[in-house]
Amino acid sequence: MNPFSKDIIIVILAAGKSSRMGLKTSKVLFPVAGRPMVCGVLDIAHKYAKNAVYVVVSPEVDRALAGENVHTIVQKDPRGTGHAFALALDEIMTKDPEMASKKIIVLLGDMPLLAPSDLSTLLDNSQDAPLTVMGMRPPCADGYGRLCVQNDRLMRIVESKDATDAEKAIDLCHTGIMCMDGDFAQKAIPQLVPSPITGELYLTDLVRLASRATYCQGPWEHFMGVNTRQELMQAERAMQERLRGKAFDQGAYLISPETTFLSYDTVFSPGVVVHPMVCFGPGVVLESDVTIYSGSVLEHCCIQHDASIGPFARIRAGTVLGPFGQIGNFVETKNAIFGQYSQAKHLSYIGDADIGDHVNIGAGVITCNYDGHSKKMTRLDDGVFVGSQTTFIAPIHVGKNATIGAGSIITKSVEPETLALSRVEQKSIPLRAHSKHLNRIKKGASETPVGNLDE
Ligand code: UD1
Ligand code: CA
Repeated sequence: MNPFSKDIIIVILAAGKSSRMGLKTSKVLFPVAGRPMVCGVLDIAHKYAKNAVYVVVSPEVDRALAGENVHTIVQKDPRGTGHAFALALDEIMTKDPEMASKKIIVLLGDMPLLAPSDLSTLLDNSQDAPLTVMGMRPPCADGYGRLCVQNDRLMRIVESKDATDAEKAIDLCHTGIMCMDGDFAQKAIPQLVPSPITGELYLTDLVRLASRATYCQGPWEHFMGVNTRQELMQAERAMQERLRGKAFDQGAYLISPETTFLSYDTVFSPGVVVHPMVCFGPGVVLESDVTIYSGSVLEHCCIQHDASIGPFARIRAGTVLGPFGQIGNFVETKNAIFGQYSQAKHLSYIGDADIGDHVNIGAGVITCNYDGHSKKMTRLDDGVFVGSQTTFIAPIHVGKNATIGAGSIITKSVEPETLALSRVEQKSIPLRAHSKHLNRIKKGASETPVGNLDE
């Protein structure tokens, strides 16, 4: 891969109107594998140009990118990719006095399947001409600009909506990505004129203005532009396929891969097994030999080696399950750290909790962590045994090796090596002779239906 270079500037165009999706929200903020499309493109841009990434945005996308290491340029009234790039160029010229001697790469915010290697291919091929365009040969060229090539030289790009039938027959398409010399951009951009058909400025018209334009080709699967909801669905599907392949490469085994939904950043380790129908939100790390059973949903958590989750568990942000731990069916955890060999196997809610090693949490245990104002912690030290149906009214600290009797409501901290019980004492009171309950039973017995098996 081409290393990061200070001579590279990257511009991402992400201010379009999303009109083909009929959206008010910008399409570049739609998630693919758990993150906005434009953020995937940004991530790749940062691998090549750390502090020189410029993104042309709508006001909405500008807000969404607050805090990212990018220069944003707001394009309030989108008038085509050429117009968007011209705004970026103005900003680059004020920020970077050496821009004329640098390479500028243009990427689009609606290409979620882009891979870092594509930029290396482009850079490797962009040494001989002021302008190099990345081409592809997709199975269906509809909607893409066509590259008109003569004697291996790129003459122009014709937009799909402006193409003649003969031009539409060309299968070499424009990915939307190009690389140009800074001084060429400076000279050529002011010469762009609006399309007589759409009134937009096309960045692709730069090809006509270059003394020499070349092209290279990359895998079409990486350059799908997402313009419609159907294409969004196809991009998600393709991304899931790619991530599942990566999971297998990392040593995981997905029993039913087509029912495992992954996030762009899910981390697998050797020996991980994922049963059918599991969803991974962002920020999940699975260490070696972890098993995730069916129906579980995980996000922002770390499951340490040899631990297991599910079936039907919901593991929320801030959960760390220690080695050999088990979280079982219908258990929800949030901001809960479990030591090694600890378990909560049935029907529990464990939130804002710090749990030691070898802690056993019975069925139906609830940490009441929220009093309507703030969150409170439950701390269970090593070796604690929690009987079923226990309610912890946090904040609570249970000392080492203590036992909590089943059915307890724990409102005070518990000393180590003690048994804490807060059950209401059970009483046995004989029923009165005229009790409705007894009468009903007696009446029922005298009216045993015919055909009863006891007869
Ligand atoms: C563009 C290319 C086409 C190429 C295709 C690849 C042009 C004129 N056409 O077409 O040759 O085959 O991508 O997917 O470049 N944008 C702005 N401001 C604008 C207009 C667009 O920031 O005023 C942004 C959009 O948010 C989007 C990107 O530019 O992320 C591309 O715009 P879009 O309208 O999707 O271009 P296509 O018609 O797909
Ligand atoms: Ca597009």
